[in-house]
Amino acid sequence: MTKTPILSLAPMAGVTDWPMRLLCAEMGCNYTTTEMVSAQGLLQAPDTLRVYKYLLAVHPDEPRPRVQIFGHRVDYMTRAAARLADTGLFSGLDINMGCPAQKIVSSGSGSALLRDLPLCAEIISAVRKVSSLPLSVKMRLGWDDVHLCAVELARIAQDCGADLLTVHGRTRAQQYSGKADWDAIRQVKEAVSIPVLCNGDVNSAASALKALEITGCDGVAIGRGALGNPFLFREIADALRGETPRPPTDDEIVSTAIRHGQMMLEWKGERSAVPEMRKHLCWYIHGRRGAARLRTRITSADTMREVFDLLREFAALQKADE
Ligand SMILES: Cc1cc2nc3c(=O)[nH]c(=O)nc-3n(C[C@H](O)[C@H](O)[C@H](O)COP(=O)(O)O)c2cc1C
Repeated sequence: MTKTPILSLAPMAGVTDWPMRLLCAEMGCNYTTTEMVSAQGLLQAPDTLRVYKYLLAVHPDEPRPRVQIFGHRVDYMTRAAARLADTGLFSGLDINMGCPAQKIVSSGSGSALLRDLPLCAEIISAVRKVSSLPLSVKMRLGWDDVHLCAVELARIAQDCGADLLTVHGRTRAQQYSGKADWDAIRQVKEAVSIPVLCNGDVNSAASALKALEITGCDGVAIGRGALGNPFLFREIADALRGETPRPPTDDEIVSTAIRHGQMMLEWKGERSAVPEMRKHLCWYIHGRRGAARLRTRITSADTMREVFDLLREFAALQKADE
């Protein structure tokens, strides 16, 4: 294991935009990635298409993220990679070889690539050639439990020039069910010399330490555990230093949620920011007293001001409880 483990925010579509990445980075996350971007979609979109402007937005205050692309055509993947590398916005390129969503898989992309390792090799080598940026691959263990290929794909990726791997310890068939298999991730780690990040079910400081111990990985990549919980990175960093993890206070949760909302508001304006923030806010208050009732009101709030008032009400409710 490298000295300081990598604490990565796993790419999540609709979630890991710059406000989320910035908040996580402030809490100790030291490796971020954009959500997946379609190579073909990017190449075919008119330059003015808003959706790509937002997907690819990087804030000057955040450490530069890697950008993740998905696709299955070597020509699209290389051209998209070259274009993204040329923007100078990103610290590296990441190739998605794990997305299990039907619409991605049915086009031959994401985890469908796990069934065609020669094509994986072709894509990784070709993308490697178009840019000198660091290149990583995110993969699952295999298509299903009789077609496991992570060790083989990891070796291929390393031979084709990848500098880092993120391995989600589930198969495509499992989607998000069952438990991530950290022992299987260990086998991948042992098969290659490039850094490997363990992904799947790391959602507390204790589970991060356990995952690092079991897999021997160079870091952890955290997806769902970070939803409404950028504080998790601080807790893990505390635990790694041998200190007691500092969970967020109620005030900190509310002030962070409000700051998150303000960043979204300034970036996207009220009409987009409010509907997008609803899910984040529900995640921030999840599991706390009064969260269920507040969730219903948050989902019908029309303005960020209303949302912030609801959060302050939530904070008062927690205090009344003490
Ligand atoms: C809402 C959501 C969106 C996701 N989007 C992506 C994505 O764009 N690219 C990707 O490689 N993985 C994506 N993933 C998978 C996560 O990066 C991660 O591999 C998975 O959630 C397992 O890690 P976890 O147990 O820490 O959540 C997504 C997961 C979720 C829950």
